[in-house]
Amino acid sequence: MALPFSRRWTLFLTLTVIFLLFLYQVHIYRPSRQPPTPIKPYKPAPQSTDGSFHWENRVTHYPLESLTPLPTERPKTLPRVQHEFSTELGPDRELRLQRRQDVKDAFTRCWQSYRVKAWMLDELSPISGAGRNSFGGWAATLVDSLDTLWIMDLRDEFHEATHSSMVLNFSTSTDNTVNIFETTIRYLGGFLAAHDLSGDAGLLHKAVEVGEMLLVAFDTPNHMPITRWEWQKAANGERQTAPDWMLVSELGSLSVEFTRLSQLTGDHRWYDAIQRITSLFDEQQQKTKIPGLWPVVVNPRDQDLTADTTFTLGGMSDSLYEYFPKEYALLGGVEPTYQKLYEQSVSAAIKHLFFRPMVPLDEDILMSGDARANNEGSSVVVEPRAQHLTCFAGGMLALGGRLFSNEEHVSLGQKITKGCIWAYENMPAGVMPEIAHLVPCQSKQNCTWSTDLWTAAVMERTGDVPSNKNADEIIVQKRVPPGYTDIDDRRYILRPEAIESVFILYRVTGDNAYREAAWKMFTAIQNITQTEYGNAAISDITAIGADGLPPKDDRMESFWLAETLKYFYLIFSDPELVSLDEYVLNTEAHPLRRPF
Ligand SMILES: *[C@@H]1O[C@H](CO)[C@@H](O)[C@H](O)[C@H]1NC(C)=O
Ligand SMILES: *[C@@H]1O[C@H](CO)[C@@H](O)[C@H](O)[C@H]1NC(C)=O
Ligand SMILES: *[C@@H]1O[C@H](CO)[C@@H](O)[C@H](O)[C@H]1NC(C)=O
Repeated sequence: MALPFSRRWTLFLTLTVIFLLFLYQVHIYRPSRQPPTPIKPYKPAPQSTDGSFHWENRVTHYPLESLTPLPTERPKTLPRVQHEFSTELGPDRELRLQRRQDVKDAFTRCWQSYRVKAWMLDELSPISGAGRNSFGGWAATLVDSLDTLWIMDLRDEFHEATHSSMVLNFSTSTDNTVNIFETTIRYLGGFLAAHDLSGDAGLLHKAVEVGEMLLVAFDTPNHMPITRWEWQKAANGERQTAPDWMLVSELGSLSVEFTRLSQLTGDHRWYDAIQRITSLFDEQQQKTKIPGLWPVVVNPRDQDLTADTTFTLGGMSDSLYEYFPKEYALLGGVEPTYQKLYEQSVSAAIKHLFFRPMVPLDEDILMSGDARANNEGSSVVVEPRAQHLTCFAGGMLALGGRLFSNEEHVSLGQKITKGCIWAYENMPAGVMPEIAHLVPCQSKQNCTWSTDLWTAAVMERTGDVPSNKNADEIIVQKRVPPGYTDIDDRRYILRPEAIESVFILYRVTGDNAYREAAWKMFTAIQNITQTEYGNAAISDITAIGADGLPPKDDRMESFWLAETLKYFYLIFSDPELVSLDEYVLNTEAHPLRRPF
């Protein structure tokens, strides 16, 4: 039967549309969101011929028998991470830009002091105005700050610092032991992100130099790394073996930096190195004492990640978990192992680590505690210990929730982030301590404040109380605000994890309350940490010195400029600046370009 002319056209057009949708679905044809950056093949820097030492010339004792290359599948278009922001009103914009300027001024003050007082050293000492080497002596603050300089539009400072970084010598170190994890997140991450933002080829050469050094720490019989690495022995050609004791975060948080280095150079050795580690985590995820999670201490020599009994998302574990969704995104969603690692670990954390603290206004918040399993793994005891370091988890859940379309995770991410905001706002100086204890509620749904329960918990934690002291005196003596039962570590060392999650939750939900919370955090931190030359760590945020402020330590770690002030700056910036749909940020807040 012959169709009328117009019907035939309709049929033809319909079939064409269906065909194009099909192509789109199977990734044969997809218009890119932005013009793709031209991929220039990587040209290695010419090696100097002055006979100086280069890591890549060291004899390899345990050559690789095979090498896992980067996946070749076309990157998927992953679900959108950021909220669809609408246009902002004039007065809102003015206030936001004023706040952003205040953050930039805080950064510039520190940077100028570093430049004058501690140039090319690892850290500025913000009280004495001296400098120190604490991370290998390769100008940690300089390298860590490169991308912040770029993002804050301090281009002259960026070019000066980039130029100076070219002479950094990774064939030698001021430390006897190189920390492979810190070197990866600060130096390798710093160079890679500064390269991804600026396109400067010299920065990629420096990243390769760091990467060549790091790979030597993997020259062991089973190709597991030595994370506290005696580089001189290695340089002298000695044989090395991976240790039988290592912190799990140091083993598990090298993936995004190593992957990005392989992506940018086309050299698969770095991806191969972390792929071996990922396989191990994958194989043993359900074999630990708390299936889904891995303990704080693991044994890379025997490739056993199951023996230890202590679990946390906090210190010594944190970035292992953080990197699963980030690595998934960086690989364009083509490596499903990272989704499995993320989902199974978060399920176990929800069950065993997250608790709802009892707080005076019954806010519906969560915190991530610690857990201890018995040797058989048959019982688990949860410790209601809140570490500042666990505050990153809110951002991880929001990012994972978006990438894997899991609204429950986004909602948990909000509650954990609100827990950290609560912890800041309920300390006398408005800043959360390094580690504290709270009262966990039995139920996450029903959690009603009781002053009696709280004082009883304070007394219980205190242990032997002198008979002449009552609860009120103990609370005054211990300086614990309502809700807290103990403050185990009273420092605030300029850490970023709380503002990190507040920033990610703002970008994910678009809820302006996060910007307001960020501003409160910023002013509180500035109030107590400013010094003549920069900002200093606080040794006890509950104490008051002669100046009416908490006492300070003469330390300003490089993450203050690399992370804390970058997150404060970004939350008051246009949401398209370092969009989470274009970048993943490593655990030192260095943005690495996602494929598209
Ligand atoms: C870097 O240090 C190594 C080892 O001390 C030395 O051999 C080399 O000459 C140095 N390179 C530069 C460019 O200073
Ligand atoms: C600064 O911190 C001190 C000590 O905690 C506090 O008493 C004071 O109110 C704070 N000032 C501002 C402006 O936040
Ligand atoms: C909530 O907990 C309190 C104290 O434990 C209890 O008295 C109350 O009945 C509970 N309410 C609900 C709705 O479960």
